[in-house]
Amino acid sequence: MSNKILVTYATCTGSAVGVAEAVGKTLSESGLTVDVLPMKEVKDLTQYQAVVAGSAIQNKQWLPEAVDFVRANRAELSRKPFAAFLVCMTLAMKNGENYRPFVVEFLAPVRALVRPVSEGLFAGRLDISKVPHWQARLMFRLSVLFGVWSEGDHRDWKAIRSWAENLAPRLAESKRFAS
Ligand SMILES: Cc1cc2nc3c(=O)[nH]c(=O)nc-3n(C[C@H](O)[C@H](O)[C@H](O)COP(=O)(O)O)c2cc1C
Repeated sequence: MSNKILVTYATCTGSAVGVAEAVGKTLSESGLTVDVLPMKEVKDLTQYQAVVAGSAIQNKQWLPEAVDFVRANRAELSRKPFAAFLVCMTLAMKNGENYRPFVVEFLAPVRALVRPVSEGLFAGRLDISKVPHWQARLMFRLSVLFGVWSEGDHRDWKAIRSWAENLAPRLAESKRFAS
């Protein structure tokens, strides 16, 4: 096993990519060697000392491919420091921070598979033109019209970097421990 860290992500409309890249960059600046890869391109976890996995939220859950990734690699992830993050629009709502206890439950199915050493909960980006299905686009246009969600980029880069900075020493530890 090398001392490399994997930051891997699942996305639908692209905003989780930027979050994963920012996490990867911050970890590199903390002195770690990092690969940032989409989950579909990850073949072998044994070469990594630690794994950070993140996904966009749809219907209050990680994307199915992200949950499948953790399920398929459960044994290997349980042996090393594993951290998880999500990007969602609930945290971008007015008073979104009040919804943190609700959003934390979006990760319950992941936690049931492998307990992360740390969880990053981040506001995402709503770009309706990139949403693949017309029914969902219509639903989002209505939510914007009624002021539930607002279109645009709500990612808080300072919060993302700060999470990654705090995470770095925990990923560098060779033995896994639960938080
Ligand atoms: C079909 C669909 C369903 C969504 N469902 C939720 C949801 O249940 N809760 C939430 O907070 N955000 C939800 N979102 C918002 C996304 O999580 C948010 O836009 C995120 O930044 C998207 O990440 P991505 O660009 O990496 O796909 C949904 C977005 C889409 C397209």
